[in-house]
Amino acid sequence: MAAPKSGYRDESLPCGDGRDWENICRALADKRSRQEEELDWNLPAEAPLPYRYRWEHVKDVVENARMLARRLGADEDACVAAAWLHDIRKLEDQHGRRGAAEAVQVLKTTDFPQHKIGTVDIAIRLHEGFSSGRRDKPLEPLEAAILWDADKLTKLGVPQLAHILGTARAMHITQEERLELAESYTLEFVANTAESMNTEPALRIARIRYREMVGFVQIWRRQIDDPFGEPADGQPRILPSRSNV
Ligand SMILES: [Fe+2]
Ligand SMILES: [Fe+2]
Repeated sequence: MAAPKSGYRDESLPCGDGRDWENICRALADKRSRQEEELDWNLPAEAPLPYRYRWEHVKDVVENARMLARRLGADEDACVAAAWLHDIRKLEDQHGRRGAAEAVQVLKTTDFPQHKIGTVDIAIRLHEGFSSGRRDKPLEPLEAAILWDADKLTKLGVPQLAHILGTARAMHITQEERLELAESYTLEFVANTAESMNTEPALRIARIRYREMVGFVQIWRRQIDDPFGEPADGQPRILPSRSNV
């Protein structure tokens, strides 16, 4: 396997030419993500970013929002625009409220259907938090529920553990500290996130992802604490590698 070249590379960048609303939203999300990441990594000017955690997060939220909008019959334009723009003011307090206000101004200057801007505004305003959504009282309108779910889904699952272990705060720490970071994130920080989902497909997959990430950190803990230990239920099944399929 070839070693990756140094510095973060994303073949999907740079972001379009800004001719239509989605390219404009995407370019703004890229720019603001980069500002946040540069501050966080605190590297010399011109040094390549090792990993772009905010950008990766926003792209995942967009994909989740698009899929949920299609599956649930929501307004896809509003969901996608809200997803691209939801964290553009992430560095500030009340980033949902501030991000929504800026998103409205940005979308007004584009070819985005103007009658949908109000929906984007509400969705971004309501997306803040990790577990304040209530399954028994879904957010409204549906597009706000979808942005919440799309955003919070990215916080759950094994890929999210790889994601947080690639951030600046996970650099220069020991293996034990990495495990502790993964454990506290999983068992405390996002312990109630799955149950905050608003929509049925998101709730279903969030519960699966949460179970699997708990299983992952438990296996990791066992292998660290007891290097010769075996799982209680016998040997894990070895799946064929992709190259053998
Ligand atoms: Fe956010
Ligand atoms: Fe987010």
